Amino acid sequence: MNKKQYDVKDLSLASAGRKRIEWASREMPVLKLIRQRFATERPLEGIRISACLHITTETANLALTLKEGGADVVLCASNPLSTQDDVAAALVEYGIPTNAIKGEDEVTYYKHINTALDHKPQLTVDDGADLVTTLHTKRSELIKNVIGGTEETTTGVIRLRSLERADKLRYPIVAVNDAQTKHLFDNRYGTGQSTIDGITRATNILWAGKKVVVCGYGWCGHGVALRAKGLGAQVIVTEVEPVRALEALMDGYQVMPMLEAARVGDIFITITGDKNVISKTLLQVMKDGAILANSGHFNVEIDIPALESLAKSKRRIRPFVDEYTLKDGRHLYLLGEGRLINLAAAEGHPASVMDMSFANQALCLEYMVRNQGKLEAKVYAVPEEIDKQVARLKLKSMGVEIDILTPEQEQYLTSWEEGT
Ligand SMILES: NC(=O)c1ccc[n+]([C@@H]2O[C@H](COP(=O)([O-])OP(=O)(O)OC[C@H]3O[C@@H](n4cnc5c(N)ncnc54)[C@H](O)[C@@H]3O)[C@@H](O)[C@H]2O)c1
Repeated sequence: MNKKQYDVKDLSLASAGRKRIEWASREMPVLKLIRQRFATERPLEGIRISACLHITTETANLALTLKEGGADVVLCASNPLSTQDDVAAALVEYGIPTNAIKGEDEVTYYKHINTALDHKPQLTVDDGADLVTTLHTKRSELIKNVIGGTEETTTGVIRLRSLERADKLRYPIVAVNDAQTKHLFDNRYGTGQSTIDGITRATNILWAGKKVVVCGYGWCGHGVALRAKGLGAQVIVTEVEPVRALEALMDGYQVMPMLEAARVGDIFITITGDKNVISKTLLQVMKDGAILANSGHFNVEIDIPALESLAKSKRRIRPFVDEYTLKDGRHLYLLGEGRLINLAAAEGHPASVMDMSFANQALCLEYMVRNQGKLEAKVYAVPEEIDKQVARLKLKSMGVEIDILTPEQEQYLTSWEEGT
């Protein structure tokens, strides 16, 4: 392999990475089935794929599946702090050029995205839309090669829909995030568990009795609130959308405006996909010792420049914990530099849930190739058949069977004639 094609922290970490990738694969039975079929059918034969994803053990299993399907895959990180360096090294050894180093600065981050684009992708796989945005704005001469792409997360789908509305999206992209077998499980149970895991690993706090403010009650917020409650925390939800606020209230949480929550919270977790959810005004009224964490896609949910401006000093008191001493004497603790805390301080989502997300990814990439030339430059939903297939296979792998409609029930459920 051309050495210039990859950039990882330390290749000697590869053997540790391999073992962890293997361990994750045990919890990814659906992807394993797809991988076995891909190995015989080779649906991606010779297709160049540039994938911008969190470089984790689960992503490695996806990349190996695509390679088994015949694809020529290169990887780069979708966040500067989410790379697992041992996995990146192992991927290089598996023959998948990877450009990702945990803690890379923004210049390196975009250099890595550009290296992935140098691959002249025919398919793009993105998580947050930084690769697709770079392709559309700075490397648009490469778009002529692209058949289509997929997008993994809510924030990426929002950006792509905006690009589509502006009439600037140049090729079809499937919104994998919007599959039911993705966001109902990955965003809710994956983000729920791993966000709590990240904060616990970073701080070793006891959750019981703490006032935890969950900002945003979307799919991820549902999961984070549920798991914090399960650990004995008093959960407060803040929202801007009335139906979701009402749902949070009836799910048993306190709901209040952020300014009120800011005064009482011990731990704040932003998970909105929005910016400046924790603004300067809010930082000014928080209790001494408050902990701030973000699990939304970008590091813009907490106004970090405002926090810097209020502080007279800052020190790293533990890995992933920065103590800000404010001019008024209070201390605020920012976790993971305001980046996705579940990936910065823990390992991201457990493999079992990524099994479904990445099964959708693999099947949607196959779908893109099979439908080459038939799709327009739009953001597409995951085909229902793929979504259902992933659910069926996951149930089967868990040894769970369900009922089947009788012909009589099928007829009844599609007719209007019968009433009481
Ligand atoms: N950490 C991870 O591993 C991970 C995994 C999946 C998704 N994400 C990211 O998490 C974010 C949320 O994803 P989701 O699927 O839950 O989205 P979602 O659209 O279902 O929910 C977001 C919620 O935030 C609310 N909101 C927006 N602005 C707000 C504000 N200022 N104050 C309070 N609430 C506000 C919205 O009304 C909405 O209910 C996105 O950035 C997504 O990309 C992260």
